[in-house]
Amino acid sequence: MKPIAVCFVCLGNICRSPTAEGVMRYQLAAARLSDRVIVDSAGTGNWHIGEAPDERAQYAARGRGYDLSQLRGRQIGAADFERFDLLIAMDDANVAALNRICPPAHRDKIRLLMEFAPQADAREVADPYFGGANGFETVLDQCEAACSGLVAALRVQLQAG
Ligand code: 4NP
Repeated sequence: MKPIAVCFVCLGNICRSPTAEGVMRYQLAAARLSDRVIVDSAGTGNWHIGEAPDERAQYAARGRGYDLSQLRGRQIGAADFERFDLLIAMDDANVAALNRICPPAHRDKIRLLMEFAPQADAREVADPYFGGANGFETVLDQCEAACSGLVAALRVQLQAG
């Protein structure tokens, strides 16, 4: 059966979406679903194409056992709306930017990450780029909670299919 393809999207693709990608890969491996779900990430902006994740994001992730060092920034493009089943944005600005370039037929693929953690207070993952180290821990907390909900939702979808 065709794997489900998921792309996490933020502004720069060096803080939030690579963190979500690393957490998701880890959780899928733990759930033995790595071969059923394709995971990627991208930014709506073009400033950090080809760059490794922000050192602060890598450091915080490493502290919880996630290695982001091999990831590289890239910008979302029109072809991604064909390639991916879900484009999972970190905040409302990401959703708006995705909607501006998304073909109308694929708009329902765009979601907010925190939809998958309905018990959490926040509905957005805040940009940690201009803040302190604590912001990166919050991003990790949010990604861990939401990826757990996302893995559960994908497992249901895979079993139904
Ligand atoms: P991200 O964070 O969207 O979580 O990767 C940012 C990274 C870089 C910039 C903004 C946000 N920037 O303005 O360069």
